[in-house]
Parts: sequence; C-alpha cells; structure tokens
Amino acid sequence: MNITQEAIDAIENFSMPDNVGFGKVMLPIMAVAEYKDGQWSQVEVKKYEKLQLDPTCKVLHYGQEIFEGMKAYNYKDNGPNLFRPLENWKRFNLSGKRMAMPEVPEEIFMGAVEEVTWLGRKFVPKRSGESLYIRPFMFASECNLGIKPAEEFLFMVVASPVGSYFAGGSIKVLIERDMIRACSGGMGAAKTGGNYAGSLLSAIETKKLGYDQTLWLSATDKESIEEMSGMNFFAVINGELHTPEITDTILNGITRNSLIELAKSEGLKVHERRMSITEMISAIQDGSCTECFACGTAAILTPISSMHDRGGKDYILKEEYGPIARDLRDKLLGIQELSIEDKFNWTKLLNR
Ligand SMILES: Cc1ncc(COP(=O)(O)O)c(C=O)c1O
Repeated sequence: MNITQEAIDAIENFSMPDNVGFGKVMLPIMAVAEYKDGQWSQVEVKKYEKLQLDPTCKVLHYGQEIFEGMKAYNYKDNGPNLFRPLENWKRFNLSGKRMAMPEVPEEIFMGAVEEVTWLGRKFVPKRSGESLYIRPFMFASECNLGIKPAEEFLFMVVASPVGSYFAGGSIKVLIERDMIRACSGGMGAAKTGGNYAGSLLSAIETKKLGYDQTLWLSATDKESIEEMSGMNFFAVINGELHTPEITDTILNGITRNSLIELAKSEGLKVHERRMSITEMISAIQDGSCTECFACGTAAILTPISSMHDRGGKDYILKEEYGPIARDLRDKLLGIQELSIEDKFNWTKLLNR
C-alpha cells in the first residue's frame, strides 16, 4: 500500500461541517487500485480528486460497474469499527462475477477500506446513529466502444461522514404494480448501478404522489414482494417476523441477515418465505400485520407507516413504529456502536 504525503496533508487540513447530511461531505482522500494485464496494482491512497476519463471509457456506455455500501462507527470513541466488512467483500465479488468483472482480493478490498477509515478516524462522527459511510466501487476503465467485457478496471474506495438517513422517522411506500426492478436470471442480486438507474423513474412518481419509497414486486407474478430500491422488507404478523426469501432478484442484505440472526437469538420466530402483496394487504386490514419495516446499511431499520396503491388506496399499519421494530433497531445499532456486547462477533475494531 502506498499512502501519498498529499493524502496525509489533506486529511490533516480537513475540517468537517457540523451538519453532514448523507453522502454530501466526502473525506478528502481516496484509495485506488488498477487492474490491467490480468493483475491488480497495489492500493494507493491519495488526495481526493476528479477522475479523468476518456469519452469512450466503457463504464459510460455499457454500465459495467459495481459498488458496496458499508459503515464504520465511533460512538463515544468506541471505534472506529466496521460492521461485518467481510460480508461486503464477499457480496462485492458476487456482484463482480455477475457483471463479468475480476475478483478483488481480500487484502486489496479490506486494505483499502481499513486504510481510508483509519486515516479518516478523527472524522467518524461520534453521536448515536451517525457513522462513516464507506463506498467501495469498481468500474470498467478500458477505452473503446466494442461491446465486450472490459479488461481494465479501477477499484476505488471513498468515504463520507454521515448522519441518520431518514431523519424524519417512518416512511410511506408505494406498491409498484407497473414497473419492475429485476427478473430471474437478470442482475437484481448484484449491487450494480443499472439496478438503481432502473428504479429512479418509479422513485420520481412515488415522490410526486407524496410517498417515500417504492416497494417492488416480482416480475414473474407481479404479486410476490421483493424489496425496496435500497432496502429489504420485513413484516410482523401475529407477533412473528416475516421477510421475502432471497432469490436471484433480491439483494442479499447484510442488515437483513443480521436482523434475522438477532431476532432468532431473542426467541422471535422468523419466516423467510414468498410473501404476496394481496396477503400483506389483507393482513394489514384485518390487523394481524401490526408492523412493517425496511432495513439496510444506510437507514439501519426504518419503520413503514403505510402502503399505497396508485389510484388512492391506502393501507395504514397499526403501529407507525412498533415495539418489535424499535427493539431490533436499538439492539442492532447498539452492537454496531459497541454500546451492547457483540456476542455475534460482527464488529471489526480498527486498532493500531
Ligand atoms: C437494493 C438493495 N436492497 C437491500 C439493501 C440492503 O442491504 P445491506 O443491508 O447489505 O445494506 C440495499 C443496500 O445495500 C440495496 O441497495
């Protein structure tokens, strides 16, 4: 690993605004490794700067790109610590495989993530719910217009001190019955830009109608609940936790999997299964479904207060922020922030 003096100077001279928002303030450093001739270069940590791209850079035309989203916490100086970073590394390479991109070795991925976090440790916010959001990504940097897999790539890591994602509490979701996010055999399980680009039109319509997030249904039956555009979905029905089972059209969320383990360890029954939207609506209407929530790295756990169909039908949850959602969120965040003992061994404390 090479760390430039400019990067060290940049971080030393950095001052963080009080109100950071989400993803707006970037640390003034970035890690870069280049893949060329079948090999990875060493990681270089340098001053954050603009990239110079040739207009025929393949990512600009064919979207060969993947990314991850992960966090380091430093609540009350308990860190900085990363939450399940190896899970992000594994998923990054699964996404890369689907998008015909080279594997990024553990030492490159983790080395870059840890070095950026360590150099930026003074700027990992310390209040509860705040963190350093870390964005590893890789894209086809080869330049030419041929539609074939690139042979040159850049792997990079940038990071942003962040506050709470949904500062406003619960969210209202729109059931998307027209557009689809992913189909079987496609790339829905990969964290690649195209999936997010494809969700934006629905996001615009959702906002226009006064709601916050899209709830995606299966392309196969237009019935099975899949996920939100950047979060997985859970419901509490008759006091038990239900979530759509993972398929190749759903992103296998690390927060989702952690909540499942946590809930089971608390004695809660968890069902990973096909969930139909018709059944969900009936369960909300007859009161057996008391809580719904979304989860992901950025938002941790965010309660869903209501679901909506285009054309005016609203399905309001009994609890806007129910006891099970609240308890799971507090416990997960407690582990992430090391204010609760991490009996699962999920946190990786950086300590040099
Ligand atoms: C489409 C999608 N689903 C679910 C998630 C939640 O995944 P995780 O909990 O690993 O952040 C994310 C966020 O990464 C996402 O982008």
